[in-house]
Amino acid sequence: MKKLFIKTYGCQMNVYDSARMADLLAPLGYAPGNGPEDADMVILNTCHIREKAAEKVYSELGRLKQLKLARAAEGRGMLIAVAGCVAQAEGKEILARQPAVDVVVGPQSYHRLPQMLAEITRGTGHVLETEFPAEEKFDSLPSDGAAPGPAAFLTVQEGCDKFCTFCVVPYTRGAEFSRPVTQILDEARRLARSGVRELTLLGQNVNAYCGEGPDGSDWSLARLLYRLAEIEGIARLRFTTSHPRDMRDDLIAAYGELPQLMPYLHLPLQSGSDRVLSAMNRKHSAADYRDLVARVRARRPDLALSSDFIVGFPGEGDADFEATLAVVREVGYAQAYSFKYSPRPGTPASAALGQVPEEVKKLRLEQLQCLLAAQQDAFNASCRGRSFAVLFEKPGKKSQQGVGRSPYLQPVHVDGAASLIGEIRNVRIREVLPNSLRGELVDTSVAEVAH
Ligand code: 5AD
Ligand code: SF4
Repeated sequence: MKKLFIKTYGCQMNVYDSARMADLLAPLGYAPGNGPEDADMVILNTCHIREKAAEKVYSELGRLKQLKLARAAEGRGMLIAVAGCVAQAEGKEILARQPAVDVVVGPQSYHRLPQMLAEITRGTGHVLETEFPAEEKFDSLPSDGAAPGPAAFLTVQEGCDKFCTFCVVPYTRGAEFSRPVTQILDEARRLARSGVRELTLLGQNVNAYCGEGPDGSDWSLARLLYRLAEIEGIARLRFTTSHPRDMRDDLIAAYGELPQLMPYLHLPLQSGSDRVLSAMNRKHSAADYRDLVARVRARRPDLALSSDFIVGFPGEGDADFEATLAVVREVGYAQAYSFKYSPRPGTPASAALGQVPEEVKKLRLEQLQCLLAAQQDAFNASCRGRSFAVLFEKPGKKSQQGVGRSPYLQPVHVDGAASLIGEIRNVRIREVLPNSLRGELVDTSVAEVAH
């Protein structure tokens, strides 16, 4: 067997794509290895969303080149491939900056990896493939693959037509595309048969999902979720990432009606200032967002929220930033990601007037992260003494320990639960640790409904 090492950067969709690439290469004799040192092929599955993420790739490629030379001196080869959004955005530049790279493959083209490797072996030099539509990719992915464990990702939608002025995604992942319902159900059934209990549906704009149903009509995300909930073995459903503009009434209603749908919603706000939201082309106001949160919470009072924020967007003044803090205080988040605005080549905001100095961005990020960390700590602390259903996903570091996820995605450690991997059990939370919770099983019966 040859050894394959895939290093994944960025979002969960890249995690899904990396697993599909491993599935595609398995029939060619590639088995997952532990690191780049002993790998016959290394794939960097890259992220272009912020400058830092993209730059990391080039420094990693420098290190890989050294490994490749060292292996060549021992008479062994190493193929280096760059996949993902940096590959899409900077294809030719990558080959120019780092000639040790053999393959550059975009996010819509990686189903062609086997053919590309055949071309390399025939000695045709570098290959670069960044052109294909998402539809063709999903039609060509293998229908078998490694079992992912009790919780799995399933891409249902890809691409984005929103064109937020800061974001590269519409350029790297292309136009919105929803996979047909039947294809998704087939994949979900296969995953359920391999032991998956929880599905996280992925899409850059997952709640804009609008896929062709078996009856020829377009299905919404809510309709798809109800159907997935009927699959035997699937006990929990999640989806990410949603745009506030696409939270339709049927999806909001599902929070009150579908027990499999976890009470946790990642709903990026980006900014709490209407002026900034408008400059970002988000097409909703802070009031729309507050109202939306209230409507989902009315259906599901125990809903926990997560979000993404950008500080220092061009033109953001102190009052705009204060407006963001105000919405954060009002909504209350269980968890959130926050970033300094990073100008991305080709996006409208990168050329806008009023770029915010780095020092100001830094101070605002610190202030926002301080508030968000306090909210996260408060949310975790509120879990002490509560019981909820935990899906056990893997053994813990200690002997006999099992680690799972709460309905709110918090890691939960339970002693004596190592044999419960793949099961959903009620756990009472005893201790709140910095990055996880510790609990104990409250009874031995299976928690049928996961909330
Ligand atoms: N600068 C900083 N953060 C960004 N994001 C997207 N583009 C940029 C950028 N240019 C953030 C947004 C998005 C998350 C995935 O990354 O908050 O929701
Ligand atoms: Fe980027 Fe906006 Fe699309 Fe999200 S909705 S992927 S932030 S353009």
